[in-house]
Amino acid sequence: MRILVTGGAGYIGSATTAHLLAAGHDVTVYDNLYRGHRGAVPGDAEFIQGDTGSSGSLDFLFQTHDFDAVVHFAALIEAGESMQQPAKYIHANVVNTSVLLAKMNHYGVNKLVFSSTAAVFAGQDTPLREDDPIGPNNLYGETKLMIERIIGWYHQLCDLRYAVLRYFNACGAMVDEKGTAIRGEDHTPETHLIPLTLQVPLGKRSHISIFGTDYPTRDGTCVRDYIHIDDLAQAHVLAVEALDDRAAMTYNLGNGRGYTVREVIETAREVTGHEISAIEVERRPGDAPSLVASSEKIIRELGWNPQHPDLDDIIQSAWAWHKSHPDGYGDKNRNT
Ligand SMILES: NC(=O)c1ccc[n+]([C@@H]2O[C@H](COP(=O)([O-])OP(=O)(O)OC[C@H]3O[C@@H](n4cnc5c(N)ncnc54)[C@H](O)[C@@H]3O)[C@@H](O)[C@H]2O)c1
Repeated sequence: MRILVTGGAGYIGSATTAHLLAAGHDVTVYDNLYRGHRGAVPGDAEFIQGDTGSSGSLDFLFQTHDFDAVVHFAALIEAGESMQQPAKYIHANVVNTSVLLAKMNHYGVNKLVFSSTAAVFAGQDTPLREDDPIGPNNLYGETKLMIERIIGWYHQLCDLRYAVLRYFNACGAMVDEKGTAIRGEDHTPETHLIPLTLQVPLGKRSHISIFGTDYPTRDGTCVRDYIHIDDLAQAHVLAVEALDDRAAMTYNLGNGRGYTVREVIETAREVTGHEISAIEVERRPGDAPSLVASSEKIIRELGWNPQHPDLDDIIQSAWAWHKSHPDGYGDKNRNT
């Protein structure tokens, strides 16, 4: 297939691009590099710098390419920032995606894989199935839910075929057959627990903060489900290829096992051999106590078969990436 990957210079988009290419697809990455890295884009993919909100750039893109499908990652992703800058998030996620969907419809591209999130759920103690109660705790999750609903209307009214993939916590790094970490996490700002924790042994921060120790969980800290980017990327390959047979799919993507913040930090201590100092602070607004996925549906329907479910394995790969790339992709002069 000829596939447009928006946000393909980002963490998950670049890994997915590599997996799509390996599966024999042609990929064009479209990214404004606001948060992504040119160096993360696999060499065999075409790269075009542009914004999903730019009507003129999208016209050029769709007029000069004949895409079979769009895999749409481009978004702003920070839940905390979304609570402080609501207009920015509504524009970046909802408005820009609306422009993209209108162009897809106009140019007759009717297959979409969309990056949604566990943050659309209210959260509960047991693994979340796709039909469990939604109720975002933050505006970031709300923007993704709004987009899911808009996609639903395009499906109903304009024959858009879609796969909505709700990821839980993406993490880890791609490691090649020689054991070299080749693609990993480099967000600016970084707010994810594993890379922040690994910054302590790298000497980039003195400690890791634990936000809230009075949640109703087994050790009082938040519980999350961690999914390796290779497994996440593979799910996209399955989903985009399934769009010929299935017109409307929504899947949760996680490992079905939750780890507390303290457990993640402890595993990072074991992997790195470093006494990572942790400081307990107040809760942050917008954090659900527990978000763990049931991914039985995508396993059953698409045969998804995660290869890296162990937290230890995930943190090993992340550590290999951060040790070998202490400055990430090394392009910090971009517009943040
Ligand atoms: N990282 C996670 O744990 C996680 C969890 C759930 C869902 N998601 C979703 O997955 C997707 C990718 O997340 P990520 O961690 O790779 O983030 P990322 O920031 O690394 O990648 C996002 C990419 O989109 C690009 N982008 C942003 N706005 C754009 C625009 N208007 N036009 C063109 N490009 C634009 C950025 O430059 C960046 O390269 C996002 O949609 C995010 O909401 C991520």
